[in-house]
Amino acid sequence: MMFRSEILGCGSYLPDRIVTNEELSKTVDTSDEWIRSRSGIAQRHIAADGQATSDLALRAGQRALEHAGISAAEVDLIICATTTPDNTFPSTAAKVQSRIGMVGGAAFDVQAVCSGFIYGLAVADNFIRCGQAKTVLLIGAETFSRILDWTDRGTCVLFGDGAGAIVMRAMPEDENHDGGGNGKGHNSGRGVLSTHIHSDGTHYDLLYVDGGPSTTQTVGHLRMNGREVFRHAVTNLASVVDEALDANGLQRADLDWLVPHQANKRIIDSTAKKLGMSMDHVVLTVEQHANTSAASIPLALDVAVKDGRIKRSDLVLLEAMGGGLTWGAGLVRW
Ligand code: UT7
Repeated sequence: MMFRSEILGCGSYLPDRIVTNEELSKTVDTSDEWIRSRSGIAQRHIAADGQATSDLALRAGQRALEHAGISAAEVDLIICATTTPDNTFPSTAAKVQSRIGMVGGAAFDVQAVCSGFIYGLAVADNFIRCGQAKTVLLIGAETFSRILDWTDRGTCVLFGDGAGAIVMRAMPEDENHDGGGNGKGHNSGRGVLSTHIHSDGTHYDLLYVDGGPSTTQTVGHLRMNGREVFRHAVTNLASVVDEALDANGLQRADLDWLVPHQANKRIIDSTAKKLGMSMDHVVLTVEQHANTSAASIPLALDVAVKDGRIKRSDLVLLEAMGGGLTWGAGLVRW
């Protein structure tokens, strides 16, 4: 039997503490004006002392299960996309598994930095399509505040902490008829239509952390050549969104929503322009959340689903680009 992944619900969690640009400019040589005009960011949430990535992931995961009306005991796979795990091992997903009440099944992390949620979506969708998992909790969770060099104004102003999650369930292809009814057969059903992931390791040094267990035995700090990453992001995202549409025989005009990774409003503007989408159809959270890496897409999805913008059967395009370099896209009929 062939399966497709239906998305049953979503949830998110942001730490209580909000740090505004104004507050940051008291300890870093920067200004609200510079940060807003270069990135679109106004504030970020920062995890409390002692609050770990798994704490954020757990809360987002619980909220997603509640929204989906699914009990943790029904979940047979937890995937956590993170670059800021609690520990080098075990996986953050395994820690969530122990606390959420999931019995049996499997749990592991996926590491593709800011593209982590799209990579996780691809992995989860493939597990479901081939019948190896039935109910997947996919979480993106990060505490980037822990790996920032707070003396480097070129990077420390750009990131924040948070977590988001979705619940995916296997649905037999032949039961999947209540979609958008665009008359295109295969792509009219609900769920994940396709995922597309890429990487180019030759550019690893444009965005990396200068530490790790097998090199420095320290955690290290984030280093970025912002201008070069920006350049690659604009090109790679433009190409992968077309790839996702082409793979499904869909046009740009068919899209209801763009839910992009929230790194920089200027990058998002460029992708929306390329797609010919008005900003009314783009979910933007970068102003409030800053860049939460693998958490940014599920956080943005949760905002737009809960405020009623994204509705059942809407065609939603997800895309991201990050360290690796990695990039990817996913097309979902909600
Ligand atoms: O999620 C993973 C992917 N990451 C990204 O997508 C990030 C992509 N890159 C970017 O978003 C942008 O490149 C940045 C927001 C990081 C930087 O914007 P930019 O327009 O590329 O600025 P820049 O790095 O070229 O810096 C311009 C100037 C420099 O001064 P000079 O050399 O022109 O005198 C910087 O020193 O801005 C200065 N600057 C700052 N000034 C005030 C850099 N950071 C700051 C700061 N406050 N925080």
